[in-house]
Amino acid sequence: MSRLIMTSLQVLALLALYLSGRSVAFVPIGGEASTHVSITGTAVLQTVMETCRAVAEAAGHEFKPTGSSPEELVQACLGPTATGEVSGAKFHSALQSIYTQNGLVDRDFVNSAPHHFNSEAFLEGRRLITEGVVAIKANIRSENFQAARETLGRVLHTLQDFYSHSNWVELGYTEPYINLIRPDLPLDNLADVDTATCSDCASGTCPNPILPNILKEKKLTSGYMGIFSAAKPKGKCSHGGAGDLTATAVPRGGISKDERHSDNVALHTAAVNVATAASLQLLQDIRFAAGDDDFLRMMGIARSSVVCFVIDTTGSMKDDIAQARAVVYEIIDSKKGTQDEPSEYILVPFNDPRFGPMTKTTDAETMKREISKLTATGGGDEPEMCLSGLQLALTGAPDSSHIYVFTDATAKDIHLKDTIVALMRTTKSTVSFFMTTRSRRRRRSLRAASFEDYKDLALASGGQAIQVSKNQLPQATDIILDTSTSALVTILQRARNPGKQETFSFMLDESLKNITFYITGTSITFTLTNPAGVSQSHNEANGKLGTIQTVGNLRRIRLNADKHTGAWQININSNQPYTLKVTGQSTITFIYDFVESFKGPHPGYAVLSGRPQAGQPASLMLSIMGRKGPSSLSVGAVGLVTVSGPETASNGTATDMGNGDILVTVVAVPEGEFVISLKGTDKISKSEFQRQSTTQMSLSRVNIQAVVDSSVEPGKALEVPFSVRTQGPGGIYTITAKNDRDIPMTYPPSLTLTTGQYGNGTLTIKPAASIPSGTDVTVTLEAKSGGDSNYAVLKISVVTKITDFVPPLCQVVGVLADDCPHDVSQCGPFQWQFLANLTDGNGTGIEIIALQQGNGNLTYTSLSKPLVVANYTASCCSQIVEFTAVDKVGNVGKCYHSIERSAGPPALFLSLPLWLCLLVSPLLARP
Ligand SMILES: *[C@@H]1O[C@H](CO)[C@@H](O)[C@H](O)[C@H]1NC(C)=O
Ligand SMILES: *[C@@H]1O[C@H](CO)[C@@H](O)[C@H](O)[C@H]1NC(C)=O
Ligand SMILES: *[C@@H]1O[C@H](CO)[C@@H](O)[C@H](O)[C@H]1NC(C)=O
Ligand SMILES: *[C@@H]1O[C@H](CO)[C@@H](O)[C@H](O)[C@H]1NC(C)=O
Ligand SMILES: *[C@@H]1O[C@H](CO)[C@@H](O)[C@H](O)[C@H]1NC(C)=O
Ligand SMILES: *[C@@H]1O[C@H](CO)[C@@H](O)[C@H](O)[C@H]1NC(C)=O
Repeated sequence: MSRLIMTSLQVLALLALYLSGRSVAFVPIGGEASTHVSITGTAVLQTVMETCRAVAEAAGHEFKPTGSSPEELVQACLGPTATGEVSGAKFHSALQSIYTQNGLVDRDFVNSAPHHFNSEAFLEGRRLITEGVVAIKANIRSENFQAARETLGRVLHTLQDFYSHSNWVELGYTEPYINLIRPDLPLDNLADVDTATCSDCASGTCPNPILPNILKEKKLTSGYMGIFSAAKPKGKCSHGGAGDLTATAVPRGGISKDERHSDNVALHTAAVNVATAASLQLLQDIRFAAGDDDFLRMMGIARSSVVCFVIDTTGSMKDDIAQARAVVYEIIDSKKGTQDEPSEYILVPFNDPRFGPMTKTTDAETMKREISKLTATGGGDEPEMCLSGLQLALTGAPDSSHIYVFTDATAKDIHLKDTIVALMRTTKSTVSFFMTTRSRRRRRSLRAASFEDYKDLALASGGQAIQVSKNQLPQATDIILDTSTSALVTILQRARNPGKQETFSFMLDESLKNITFYITGTSITFTLTNPAGVSQSHNEANGKLGTIQTVGNLRRIRLNADKHTGAWQININSNQPYTLKVTGQSTITFIYDFVESFKGPHPGYAVLSGRPQAGQPASLMLSIMGRKGPSSLSVGAVGLVTVSGPETASNGTATDMGNGDILVTVVAVPEGEFVISLKGTDKISKSEFQRQSTTQMSLSRVNIQAVVDSSVEPGKALEVPFSVRTQGPGGIYTITAKNDRDIPMTYPPSLTLTTGQYGNGTLTIKPAASIPSGTDVTVTLEAKSGGDSNYAVLKISVVTKITDFVPPLCQVVGVLADDCPHDVSQCGPFQWQFLANLTDGNGTGIEIIALQQGNGNLTYTSLSKPLVVANYTASCCSQIVEFTAVDKVGNVGKCYHSIERSAGPPALFLSLPLWLCLLVSPLLARP
């Protein structure tokens, strides 16, 4: 047991080290080691470790990470079933989402006092935290994990700022102010607007300028901040620093503990420590409300393969549906219990004129049942609502999913094409199409141009468009099995239209497994050559290098398992359009975001929501993952390369930000659509590797800015201001907004822009009163004129206003521990019992009771009754019990009891008839 804890603590220490190097982007609280990112990282990773340990112990195995990298943490957390390659990419990108949103509060809400607890905006600041936590819990319940992460990042920023910007630590407190995350408790003793709080500090660097009577009366205050004005109420403290104009008005100086200076080391350190503890408390509250499994899923720690099918269910699709069903059954049955077992299943049927609903489940049996229910009915010779179905899948599936569309008809809703591209760019999911030929269909309805639309979409996302006859479909779906794995990477992808003879060269590194090539196109010949010069041509189905399977327009080449490391070539010859894709399984991978830097009092980097700006260098933030974390790799060239010929590439300048994070600046961005290419060396195998991203991107001269600031209540309207600017010609820009839930929206149909100047508009969205709380709406907002366009993707949560903030109450009825021997080593055969009454007062009612600590048996009476009696029985060897009762809106109440005897000398130890009942805050705090 203690060794276990030691191991975890060691890992935590390493993780803290791992994070401390990241002073890169988000400065607040601490210019040196401690930043919002490092505080958030420390708290998130500690909570993740505790959750992993609890999950592992409950499953009866040990949590033993082999090292501190996120990759190794994920591997250990997923437990013994994680025998295959496990990629840390999803965990990494979940962390990045949280960090990024945390940092963005300093850009998007730079002048908003409540977001930073500036200017004594305590009640408003707490309201942001409360509403954020409610939204996070509702989003997790609806499995909208990305929305939950983003809100979590923002809420943590505000919570952490309290400790830097208020006088909490000056008042001598070393524990978090629990009332900030307990809206049922009052915020007491706030200094009113007429109360002076600071003394003048001419030098600007006074250790603690808070007035003595404020300290004595323990009045809470915070520094005023003025970016545009020096005005503040008389006698009030300022935030301080160069960005704060109020710092020059008497009383001068400031009380912000954002950065460490020689004169505030102790206060800065205290603020960092208590901000970390407060972040831990908030995360623990969310973890208890969500449950361990969903908390880990929110953190991107789950088996990463997701099955996502979008299926046409018109009359002619009978065989296709049967084949899709067969593939789902095969994946479920063959991957059960392995690392590649899908963690989630998504199914979206479409027809004409209907599409959906989307089935989203973690349960394999539910997926089998749902897909077995699909029948082919109706539909004449009309095209179908394919893109509407795909839109649902793209917004419902986790980012970087592989989505498969089965259809035999063209898309009726082709007007959604731009929306689909925007969603593919934002989610980085790949979409592949299986398009079969409907035999009784008139030729005209299968226009080559329409299949071209699917091909365009597939290529834009890095997926494939496969065209086969209905009876060939069973041979074509192997590609789905290839991608339903945890650690799929793309080594090379190229498209040529028109085709020509060309040789493609690429490196295969030692870490790669299950290397597969896909070529789509017609009338193709090719020759593959390995590093030793051995060749295999397209007509050798079973050759020296691999096996070639041909079906419809697809050739799939699976390399033989033997040695492959080194430089390969493939020579392709065709005068028809073709695509080439080389994939494998490996833990060496990368994630990336296009970013822009922003200035202000707290500068940083923000992830771009749309396409990067033309006419300026493009910046990307890359995180590299290796087999033993980033230190096991060295990075060579990083650049942007076009997928569709003629090939152009431009190298970026890489700035190492530490710990595998790299800021890449590319001055001359290729024209047209490009992807990211990364080359380097795996230090473990000493082999060179190359990877490329799948989603295509291109520059735009148009820029859209829009920020969603809060959730929206069912039946109420939310206004989202947005602004559009162009560096191209001015004129009329068409505005289009779409969302995936058919929620009514209003917005100006167009904006008239002058080059270089913002045009502003407002989008209003009003969800019906009947929309369930926790629904996540994805809005794509597009501005377009001529060939120039850009988009923004906004996530809006529909959350019912909550009035129940009172957690369930735990009242101890009795503890029967008399049998437990004083000598703990004799505990074996004995048991103790703990009984408690659980109630939720006038609240929404208890929904979940879960054991958090202790390995005894917890039983309880019916949750539908107002009084729930909990009965816990455990061996005397398991001395602590903690369980949580969560009500229907996510308020968490706790029961805690320990029968541990204090660790004093034996005499004292024996003389204490100790049954300590530690009831935590819900009981004590109840008014
Ligand atoms: C990957 O290759 C291994 C052997 O190298 C094999 O056992 C496994 O089935 C392959 N996986 C897939 C999805 O083909
Ligand atoms: C990019 O860098 C790589 C390696 O440093 C080099 O081989 C290649 O020629 C460069 N390409 C361009 C277009 O500068
Ligand atoms: C339009 O929005 C921009 C950027 O958000 C802002 O700077 C500008 O003041 C706004 N203009 C008007 C007229 O509201
Ligand atoms: C617990 O509930 C029972 C009713 O089932 C009641 O008799 C008892 O007084 C309650 N105990 C406490 C401590 O509230
Ligand atoms: C519950 O509601 C009743 C009636 O509205 C009220 O009298 C009582 O004080 C409430 N109890 C609590 C614990 O809020
Ligand atoms: C818990 O319940 C199981 C099964 O009912 C039983 O075998 C076990 O002995 C119980 N443990 C305790 C500590 O009561």
